[in-house]
Amino acid sequence: MRKDYEFVLVERDGALVTLTLNRPDKLNALNATLIGELTDAFASLSAEASPPRALVLTGAGEKAFAAGADIAAMANLGAPAARAFAAAGHRLGEAIEAAPFAVLAAVNGFALGGGCELALACDLVYASEKAKFGQPEVNLGVIPGFGGTQRLPRAVGPQKAREMVLTGATIDAAEAKRVGLVCEVYPPAELLAKVRETAAVIAQKGPLAITAAKRVMRAGADVPLPTANELEAQAFAALFGSDDQREGMSAFLAKRPAHFHGR
Ligand code: COA
Repeated sequence: MRKDYEFVLVERDGALVTLTLNRPDKLNALNATLIGELTDAFASLSAEASPPRALVLTGAGEKAFAAGADIAAMANLGAPAARAFAAAGHRLGEAIEAAPFAVLAAVNGFALGGGCELALACDLVYASEKAKFGQPEVNLGVIPGFGGTQRLPRAVGPQKAREMVLTGATIDAAEAKRVGLVCEVYPPAELLAKVRETAAVIAQKGPLAITAAKRVMRAGADVPLPTANELEAQAFAALFGSDDQREGMSAFLAKRPAHFHGR
């Protein structure tokens, strides 16, 4: 993968990768370059022969995960350029969802607008006690454009999502947990270590199973239940005969830990 990103830091620790949005002077606001770099990072990590087994996404600095799409960059856009900007945000969300590994957001501060939408595209969202979530776009005379109007209701239900999108109000980490936007809340100093612990747990599991579980849970959410169950059955069956399935089940029967290779 590219090593010359301007706004994204990449750290590898064995099978775990951490991507850090690195534009702290602008609270990691998402401009086209940052969005493109993140999309490129997810696409190239996904295409590796041995992709990471889990990835942690976080923001540089003390204050923000990402305080939204870059308002200065959007201020003078016309409709065609705004459409292209939204499409770039959607491609990023889709690259995260399509990644074969679990993506864990470690939301260390503001996750507003595009920052909230970025967290929503991740598989798991963890937050520091000082994190704040919101879709404040109506304050700017626009609406969420990176999937927020669609993923937020799926995450927290239509009432809470409409309240957040229509009022632009931010919610704190405790409320984000209460409404199901966040899995767990940690003290700021512990957030990254705790999220990496969970990432390490996931990294020990069968990689093919993680990819399949992630794929069918996403795909099944948008189709009728019988179709969703069929997706599950196909993915379940496809894992049988894999090295991972044989290893997982024989390790259990032999009362030893399993060692998976993603084959
Ligand atoms: N786009 C562009 N720049 C942004 C930004 C965004 N979404 N969010 C913050 N910044 C910039 C500020 O302009 C400022 O830059 P400057 O130092 O060159 O003036 C810098 O980041 C620090 O932000 P500041 O507003 O001074 O920090 P704060 O602690 O006083 O306030 C927020 C923090 C998050 C409440 C405030 O920055 C904010 O409301 N941001 C916009 C949130 C938003 O509407 N997001 C949705 C966008 S669609």
